[in-house]
Amino acid sequence: MGAPDRSLKEIEEYISQHLKGKGILACSGGLDSTLLAVVASRVAGDKLLTVFVDTGLMRMEESGRVRAIFDRYGLNYRIVDASEEFFSALRGVTDPERKRKIIGARFIDVFERESGEFGAEYLLQGTIAPDWIESGGSVRDTIKSHHNVGGLPERMKLKLVEPLRDLYKDDVREISAYLGLPTDVQPYPGPGLAVRIIGEVTRDKADLLRAVTAIVEDEVRRAIPPENRPWQYFAVLLPVSTTGVHGDKRTYGGTVALRVFNSIDGMSGTFTRLDWELLDRISTRITNELKEINRVTYDITNKPPGTIEWE
Ligand code: XMP
Repeated sequence: MGAPDRSLKEIEEYISQHLKGKGILACSGGLDSTLLAVVASRVAGDKLLTVFVDTGLMRMEESGRVRAIFDRYGLNYRIVDASEEFFSALRGVTDPERKRKIIGARFIDVFERESGEFGAEYLLQGTIAPDWIESGGSVRDTIKSHHNVGGLPERMKLKLVEPLRDLYKDDVREISAYLGLPTDVQPYPGPGLAVRIIGEVTRDKADLLRAVTAIVEDEVRRAIPPENRPWQYFAVLLPVSTTGVHGDKRTYGGTVALRVFNSIDGMSGTFTRLDWELLDRISTRITNELKEINRVTYDITNKPPGTIEWE
């Protein structure tokens, strides 16, 4: 793809040719679906409904951040707080694959409700080339386990429109920047904090991990300019309590692991050799500001053999 304005026109043309009625789009707040929501709404206006599902497993201020973008670009949107549904469905569940399946199924239910109310005929999805091209060039099954909308078109009898199919991540960044959208957005898994809370997921644990994550993001962003930032930087809440000391009192508190990772495409990569001073600041802030946590560890596993997410 060439200059961003030409790419943008091509995407807009593709949308006007294929979107012949009401369309719906699930925006995760990630780069691809946000770009698609903004471009599609330029073409379709109120014929398009953009839905952001707040699962309760998002990062701090995520729905506010997304809302600000939707407002700025004049989208027709709905932000659905479905957190109660997600937490109650996850009660007692510890197996990672079950967590993912439950979240996927809940997501489809919420989205189906919204789509039915709106009367959508089309589903717009922000699939980009690496989502469907395997390294060997053959076609994968529709992956985008992404926002768990893989099974949606068949189940809901929606016609699928994928206007970004030929783009790569760099193209998405370039067009997003051209439109004034933020481009320093970390990849974030569809199941969100659920795959970073080892063991049962509860609202309290999600709140705690959200606060830890906010500290990690804040310190990394302060210390490292956007162009040099690692691919991802986050924390994982472990089901481990250990002894500590606070003042002259012994404590028994929780443990987090920091995961800071360099990668080009998420398929492989190495842990980031983060500066010791920065690690020190992150650790000190977490243990000072969050009394539930008294131990911070650093994950030094490359991929392979470790995946980036812990679950
Ligand atoms: P792993 O953990 O497999 O992750 O090394 C590779 C990249 O994919 C992200 N990831 C997901 N993204 N839905 C997503 O959209 C998911 O279910 C999911 N699981 C992992 C992960 O954050 C990393 O960037």
